[in-house]
Parts: sequence; structure tokens; C-alpha cells
Amino acid sequence: MFYSIAFHLLAAVIWVGGMFFAYNALRPAAAQVLEPPLRLELWVQVFRRFFVWVWLSIGVILATGYWMLFSYFGGFASAGTHIHIMHGGGWLMVIIYLHVYFSPYRRLKQAVIIQDYPLAGAQLNQIRQLVGLNTLIGLLVITVASAGRYL
Ligand code: HEM
Repeated sequence: MFYSIAFHLLAAVIWVGGMFFAYNALRPAAAQVLEPPLRLELWVQVFRRFFVWVWLSIGVILATGYWMLFSYFGGFASAGTHIHIMHGGGWLMVIIYLHVYFSPYRRLKQAVIIQDYPLAGAQLNQIRQLVGLNTLIGLLVITVASAGRYL
């Protein structure tokens, strides 16, 4: 349990903290300082690196989460409400991330390669909205997962 909860938490912190930083600090700073071509190129490079950590985090969160659920909490039937909410919220986050990765992010990369900056800007805008949504869900899931049992 020591290792599974530790890695589960670290993965959640890396994923949600990374999105929070990107959305609330890097995004407004990049918009203020960089013109579109450079800003869009910056985001492609940022996502290229950050998404490796997100894939890793998702793998760790799911593996440790289900391991704890079935080896310590006796499966879904005997798990508390906070675990059910975390499970549902976690999968919603994964689905939103998969959509971002395989749809607007893929199109953003292609648009930047062919230097179609209006198209790239539209993709980045979609990613911004979805990452904003996933950050909110992530913060909520963390709150429910950690504090939910005391309600
Ligand atoms: C999607 C599948 C997931 C499963 C099956 C799962 C399962 C679990 C289980 C069994 C625990 C231990 C609960 C307890 O000690 O009462 C736990 C703890 C936790 N999980 Fe998850 N989880 C999942 C996703 C997530 C996600 C996506 C996040 C955050 C974004 C998250 C954040 C946390 C946190 C913060 C704790 C620590 C609670 C505490 O001990 O204070 N989990 N998870």
C-alpha cells in the first residue's frame, strides 16, 4: 500500500499540477510575450514533453488505483463513495485527454508544420478549453479523493 498510494498521488500531482501551471501561468505569459507563430511552436514543444508525463501518469494512476481497490478495499462493492467518484472522475479525465491527444493536438502539430497558423490557433484554443476543464475535474477529484471520506 505504501508504494501504490505514493505513486498514485505523485502521478496525480504531476498530471493535475502540470495542467494547472500550463493553464494559469504559461498560457497567459506566452500570449503576452510571443507572437502567434512562435507561441504555437512553443506549445507544440511543451505538449510534446508534457504529454509523455501524462501518459506515464495515467498508466501509474490506473495500475495503482485498481491494485489498491481490489487488494485493499475489497473491490467496487465495498469501496467508499469517494472512491467511486474518483473512479468516474478519473476516467472522464482520461477520455478528455485521449480526445485532446488524438484530435486537436494531432491537428495542431500538422498545422504548425504547414505553417497554417489560423488553423493551429483554433486547435490550441480547443486544447485550452479541454485542459481547463480537465484541470477543474482533476482538482475536484483530488479534493473528493482525499477529503471526501470526512464529509
Ligand atoms: C481512475 C481510476 C482510479 C482508481 C481505481 C483509484 C483508486 C484509488 C484508491 C483505491 C485510493 C485509496 C483510497 C483511500 O485511501 O481511501 C485512491 C486514493 C487517491 N486517489 Fe485515486 N483512483 C483513480 C484515479 C484517480 C485520479 C485520476 C486522481 C487525481 C487526479 C486520484 C487521486 C487520488 C488521491 C489524491 C488519493 C489519496 C487519498 C488519500 O489517501 O488521502 N485518483 N485512489
